[in-house]
Amino acid sequence: MPADKPTEQSAAVTESASDTCDDSNVLTSATSDLGEGQLRLTSRSIRSFVIRNGRTTPAQTDAMERLLPTFGLTYSDQPIDLEVQFGRTAPTVLEIGFGNGDVFTHIAQQEPQRNVIGVEVHTAGVGHALLAIEQKQLNHARIIQHDALEVLHHMLPAESIEKVLLLFPDPWHKKRHHKRRIVQKDFLDGVCRVLKPTGILHCATDWAEYGEWMIEHLENDSRFQNIVGPSMASERPEWRPLTRFEARGQRLGHSVLDLIYKKV
Ligand SMILES: C[S@@+](CC[C@H](N)C(=O)[O-])C[C@H]1O[C@@H](n2cnc3c(N)ncnc32)[C@H](O)[C@@H]1O
Repeated sequence: MPADKPTEQSAAVTESASDTCDDSNVLTSATSDLGEGQLRLTSRSIRSFVIRNGRTTPAQTDAMERLLPTFGLTYSDQPIDLEVQFGRTAPTVLEIGFGNGDVFTHIAQQEPQRNVIGVEVHTAGVGHALLAIEQKQLNHARIIQHDALEVLHHMLPAESIEKVLLLFPDPWHKKRHHKRRIVQKDFLDGVCRVLKPTGILHCATDWAEYGEWMIEHLENDSRFQNIVGPSMASERPEWRPLTRFEARGQRLGHSVLDLIYKKV
């Protein structure tokens, strides 16, 4: 399936994107070290996320206190030992920006032979995912509540990950916010660092222009090769449950691009 060309975005689309990319929510570097939950951020000035406070339910707050000590991995600026953390040697999948964790916990449920790590900064999403981990008894799932860029560059061991998933990242649709898009050279450096040789980076977006941006960055990076051919989108994988953001994209009539690259 050839990748879609960028299209004009409708007013409804712009409205939906403001959910995650609203100017008023953008933290300045002066406030970004305040963090929430166990989030203790360092001095990176441009981030791909905003901290949204005040929407955590009592059950999620309880889950943060009760379950994070067991299923959370505290951020470390030194590589951690995955064998020690999981108590076994197993192929490991990493999902970045898992939102409420539906895909992350689905994979963990479907693939008990794999370790699954999810990285997310938003406390309500982390709490939601922790409750699912408890309910489904996913003892091979771990959550890191921290900036994924720092996790990729410092915390995860080099060549330790089989697959990195980046599903429906914030599109940061306004041109002046493009610098906040997570898919940048720095991100690809980090992904390349943690992926095993021939490991997979799977990105998906419903934002056509961000899809073009992803393709441009990945095709110009000789460390990655598109698994179905240069600049091509892959078929939507059957294993992936519909995420909240994918569903919203569908309602708005967006087509979804799945872009799957192998580390070469
Ligand atoms: C648009 S949402 C998509 C969520 C989910 N993947 C889905 O499809 O429903 C993007 C998520 O990525 C998270 N995020 C963005 N940048 C991040 C970063 N650098 N580290 C960790 N999480 C990040 C945001 O908090 C947000 O929950």
